[in-house]
Amino acid sequence: MPGVLPEGEPVPADGSLPATATRAVGARGFGVYVHVPFCASRCGYCDFNTYTADELGGGASREAYADQVLAELALAGRVLGDAPPPRVDTVFVGGGTPTLLPADDLARILDGIDRTWGLAADAEVTTEANPESVTPESLKSLRAAGYTRISLGMQSAAPGVLAILDRRHRAGRATEAAREARDAGFDHVNLDLIYGTPGENAEDFAASLAQVVSAGVDHVSAYALIVEDGTRLAARMRRGELPYPSDDVAADRYLAAEAALGEAGFSWYEVSNWARTPGGQCRHNLLYWTGGHWWGLGPGAHSHVGGVRWWNVKHPSAYAKRLAAAQSPGLAREVLTPRRGAHGGRHAAVAARLRAAARRAGRRGSGRRGPGPGRRAARFGRVRGRPGGAHPARPAAGRRGRARPAALILAVRCRRPAALTPACVVGGRLPRRALSAAGCPDRAPRSGPGRAATSRTRTSSGSGRACPRWPSRRR
Ligand SMILES: C[S@@+](CC[C@H](N)C(=O)[O-])C[C@H]1O[C@@H](n2cnc3c(N)ncnc32)[C@H](O)[C@@H]1O
Ligand code: SF4
Repeated sequence: MPGVLPEGEPVPADGSLPATATRAVGARGFGVYVHVPFCASRCGYCDFNTYTADELGGGASREAYADQVLAELALAGRVLGDAPPPRVDTVFVGGGTPTLLPADDLARILDGIDRTWGLAADAEVTTEANPESVTPESLKSLRAAGYTRISLGMQSAAPGVLAILDRRHRAGRATEAAREARDAGFDHVNLDLIYGTPGENAEDFAASLAQVVSAGVDHVSAYALIVEDGTRLAARMRRGELPYPSDDVAADRYLAAEAALGEAGFSWYEVSNWARTPGGQCRHNLLYWTGGHWWGLGPGAHSHVGGVRWWNVKHPSAYAKRLAAAQSPGLAREVLTPRRGAHGGRHAAVAARLRAAARRAGRRGSGRRGPGPGRRAARFGRVRGRPGGAHPARPAAGRRGRARPAALILAVRCRRPAALTPACVVGGRLPRRALSAAGCPDRAPRSGPGRAATSRTRTSSGSGRACPRWPSRRR
């Protein structure tokens, strides 16, 4: 069951934006997000805004979808008409399962974006895909249409874990699809992993990491399993059929990911994301983090342009009806104050939440030996989070900015949680650069972050760690 959308003020029927917002277009990077709200079946853990064929009502169908997106794009072109962005730097087609649409439809949508605003010559164009929904031929078509990057949901190498997650693909299919994508000419290929699933052991996760490394991809996203209200997985846990995930286990998996991926030449650059080279980092994700502007097309998609953040109606049939009536699908919006900036307010709110959570965990701790990461994390209890990376604007999900467990785990492990800042939230593991930028009083004396500093993060000595406030894994 998809989660709920936030509240806000109404969006005008023609979708128009205040002049202050349209004037700001072009001042920062500009991206386009396209949400494709279809899946062949719903995985038991997922509450993304996506629907199986049975769940789609009147007016909504996969066949009609590309034209509906193009209709919203035409409206977007009119809204930004006087101030067209100079070029589109990034496009991200997410879901759901975008590759349930024919490659021709995905090509038409990309062509529409190019015709409306113009794609930059070096634009990053990503589509998400389920491993079982692509073939060597469809991958070649997507590459030929201009897609430059593909993100595949692998989740695990262990058949038992895939079964608990209700995945449709067999173990090994995701890495096979990643190789097919590389053969089709994709230089940038991501594999998503989920860790901390009940039944997964350390060896299973090590095998998942080994497989992504040997698949030759240049990007890995590793997400702690979030038990979302209203999902089948949550119901199974409530009934006692499956144990709840352990925060301690999640923390250990996160460290295992950093160790294995760092060893294989990947660098961590965002809470849940690692890339082999700076050029392999997901520029679209970074655009969200850096207050860029983007138009989100599709049901439940979120947008941000010039300090106005809005989100579309959620259900595909409501979306179809609005567009059929030549109305904006925008449901509600909020106008950001200069102080809050595009993300400042949300980051600050998340930082406050982390501080409060870490304080609570601190009160429950023994108070004698300091934070003791494992014990505190264990006492920390369940905190719901967002799986789509820690960025505050995961457009498809249409959720409020909730802190992710990975960030919470880090906060609980921080020696001085009261000093957590928004930069710590963005940096997650508090790299030197972020600490310097935030003016952190604890910033390490050494310069130059890099992987050497990353591995030192796990030592317990006082100097040379990326963040002296983040203690060793075990004491
Ligand atoms: C929008 S999904 C799209 C990927 C594609 N539909 C698939 O499943 O292969 C993006 C990723 O979010 C992650 N995800 C979704 N729900 C999650 C949850 N409850 N906990 C952790 N990660 C989750 C999964 O790793 C998934 O691959
Ligand atoms: S994880 Fe992917 S395939 Fe599974 S329901 Fe969510 S969006 Fe669909």
